[in-house]
Amino acid sequence: MYRNYLRLLPLLNSIFISGLLMSPFAHAEKVNSEEKLDILVEQALKATPNLENGKMMFRNCAVCHSPEGWGTPSGHFPQIAGQHKSVVIKQLSDIHKGNRDNPTMLPFTIPLFLQGPQSLADIAAYVSKLPMMPNNSMGYGAQMAEAKKLYDDNCEQCHGANGEGDAEKLYPRIHGQHFSYLERQLHWIKTGKRRNADKKMVKQIQKFNYRELELLSDYVSRLRPDSSMVAESIYWKNPDFRAGFYTAPRR
Ligand code: HEC
Ligand code: HEC
Repeated sequence: MYRNYLRLLPLLNSIFISGLLMSPFAHAEKVNSEEKLDILVEQALKATPNLENGKMMFRNCAVCHSPEGWGTPSGHFPQIAGQHKSVVIKQLSDIHKGNRDNPTMLPFTIPLFLQGPQSLADIAAYVSKLPMMPNNSMGYGAQMAEAKKLYDDNCEQCHGANGEGDAEKLYPRIHGQHFSYLERQLHWIKTGKRRNADKKMVKQIQKFNYRELELLSDYVSRLRPDSSMVAESIYWKNPDFRAGFYTAPRR
């Protein structure tokens, strides 16, 4: 009797393990189809967010983006605090779809997509409500008059005079962002590495040289968000985290 059971063990084991392994993947396959993801985004945009759940889910993000959502001064990790909820949902979906390359972050988006639209809405609402950093990194600040003209002539129509973007139209808030992150995105938009970029914007950005893209990144990094959006001090700490919460090395 016991021997029979032992003989069955590997079989039971493999059924159990394949069941465990396969079921989340089977599910992931379902939610991963392009059409389903678009529906997911639509539903997430309409859902009423639960900030408590957003707070729980944000622990997965804080390791890289920091508990304040301010990213790192080097711009390796962008500030996400204060970004429009709709933009966060859209970018998460693009990254999850592989429409925007972000291999390090990709695995951290899986739990959100397995849980469905509600948790996407929750995390995005939480992120959008975090106060922005007062001291993002900037460029040299030279030739800003030329930069302003470039910006006003080309970018303002979508990102707004002050870089505030447009939540309805999914135009990102870009002011107060780290300089090097902005510059990297503009390079990636120019070369096509950032595949999800708006077609009209790509056309514009392609005609700029790297010096002009540096000026634009510098100018945008200097645009100040409304003071109601910004933390009162550079020492502000997110009270939802214990002191000394471990984050990724400052890169
Ligand atoms: C392993 C590190 C890592 C983790 C964990 C991580 N991210 Fe990111 N995230 C990045 C990097 C790196 C980028 C910038 C990629 C690039 O340069 O295009 C990024 C970009 C983003 C962007 C796009 C920012 C923009 O302005 O377009 C959003 C939104 C975002 N992350 C949200 C999140 C959320 C929400 C979580 C938690 C579920 C999370 N991230 C977890 C590394 C991470
Ligand atoms: C036609 C509207 C439009 C115009 C004009 C436009 N953008 Fe964009 N921009 C977008 C949209 C939509 C996105 C988000 C899509 C995406 O994921 O790439 C975006 C994304 C960006 C990002 C990435 C933001 C982030 O957080 O990762 C930067 C930086 C940016 N734009 C800068 C510029 C600059 C500088 C100009 C002017 C040279 C410009 N844009 C002109 C619509 C526009």
